[in-house]
Amino acid sequence: MKTAFILNGPNLNLLGTREPGVYGAATLADVEQLAAAACAQHGLKLAFRQTNHEGQLVDWIHEAGQLHAKGELAGLIINAGAYTHTSVALHDAIKGTGITCIELHISNVFAREAFRHHSYISPVAKAVMCGFGVKGYPLAVAALADMQG
Ligand code: DQA
Repeated sequence: MKTAFILNGPNLNLLGTREPGVYGAATLADVEQLAAAACAQHGLKLAFRQTNHEGQLVDWIHEAGQLHAKGELAGLIINAGAYTHTSVALHDAIKGTGITCIELHISNVFAREAFRHHSYISPVAKAVMCGFGVKGYPLAVAALADMQG
């Protein structure tokens, strides 16, 4: 059984109380449950994590890369939060490991401030999803499973 890595970046631990008009009422624990159910449905093992620290995300991407090298990774779904718009390090980590990556955002970043319109992740992502709310997570898991063929 291959593993789906789902990594969440800064402030996503505040889901449920953070700007509910933008991000909804679901907590990160709710999101993990949605993702776990989708992984169970699609025969994937789930590694679901959140951190507020950029370097921790880099380390976890490297860990996913090691699984990839062993043929044990389905891919990475990453909501890098604000680091999406700033982090060359995340771009380099995804590129350097060669993993299949889906970039995910809960909100439609293109309907928001201009500084959210640029992503350092998109050029190294296989696919980009935004604006589906937290339901984007199970949709992304289904897409990742589909990419396995
Ligand atoms: C986000 C969008 C980012 O612009 C923002 O910084 C976040 C969350 C989203 O899920 O919609 O923290 O990635």
